[in-house]
Amino acid sequence: MSSKLDLSKEFTGRRALVTGGSRGIGATIAQRLLDGGAEVVVAARSRSDVTPAAATFISGDVSTSEGAKAIAAEALAALGGLDILVNNAGGSRVFAGGVSTIPDEEWHDTFALNLLSAVRLTNAVLPALRASKAAAVVNISSTAATMPFGPTAHYGAAKAALDAYSRTLAVELAPDGIRVNVVTPGPISTPGADELRKTFPGISSDAWLQYLPLGRIGTTDDIAEVVALLASDRGRWLTGVNYRVDGGMTAR
Ligand SMILES: NC(=O)c1ccc[n+]([C@@H]2O[C@H](COP(=O)([O-])OP(=O)(O)OC[C@H]3O[C@@H](n4cnc5c(N)ncnc54)[C@H](OP(=O)(O)O)[C@@H]3O)[C@@H](O)[C@H]2O)c1
Repeated sequence: MSSKLDLSKEFTGRRALVTGGSRGIGATIAQRLLDGGAEVVVAARSRSDVTPAAATFISGDVSTSEGAKAIAAEALAALGGLDILVNNAGGSRVFAGGVSTIPDEEWHDTFALNLLSAVRLTNAVLPALRASKAAAVVNISSTAATMPFGPTAHYGAAKAALDAYSRTLAVELAPDGIRVNVVTPGPISTPGADELRKTFPGISSDAWLQYLPLGRIGTTDDIAEVVALLASDRGRWLTGVNYRVDGGMTAR
């Protein structure tokens, strides 16, 4: 491989599935891969007005076993194989009363959405990734995995589990040439996350900035660029890493 990479079309010939690609961070990741020449399928329960038009949209629920299997089957049929899987769909509700007020069912639902979706989808597309010449999985975590936020303790625990799962998977799949990495966003401005942050008890919108040494909330492009690095040949010797893309939030 040449050390001089043409970044403008570095994903030409690559086929990608981005979960939660209908809006927010996932939509920007999908667009970044499309811009690089990839063929992209996005999966979510519904489209939005920012769902990349050039991507194939699949409607489904990644948080159930049947939903993940159906999305995998449809994506593989549409793409004829798979080189890049971005497990991005995720999220949480806020429980202002803290850890002890989070209902049992909510713990189950949050683990299903933020951990089991990635496990099930990755398992379902594994034969296709094994057949790829340059397979990369990127799982989207959260700084909540390592920072204690009581109102989203269930979400932090699920993302921490996603991190541990990803490291194990990276080691297990390395002999097959499949790289598995994690991107951990800090606070990123998306319509959903902006609304969620407003409901955090005791932290006003401006107060989030005190956690961010670089002095601003992140953008979806900040995340998509690092996902692109990890999915591309530029990241060819990277596996099992966790890139914290958080404006310095966890550096303190
Ligand atoms: N934004 C942040 O500040 C931030 C910080 C740290 C980590 N993250 C992580 O980054 C990822 C994306 O966050 P975001 O802020 O971009 O979220 P978002 O704007 O709320 O978008 C979430 C995406 O996931 C899809 N989705 C949600 N539940 C789904 C389900 N059950 N089945 C299929 N698709 C589902 C949504 O579409 P539908 O609702 O139509 O299904 C949407 O496309 C998440 O994993 C989140 O935990 C975000």
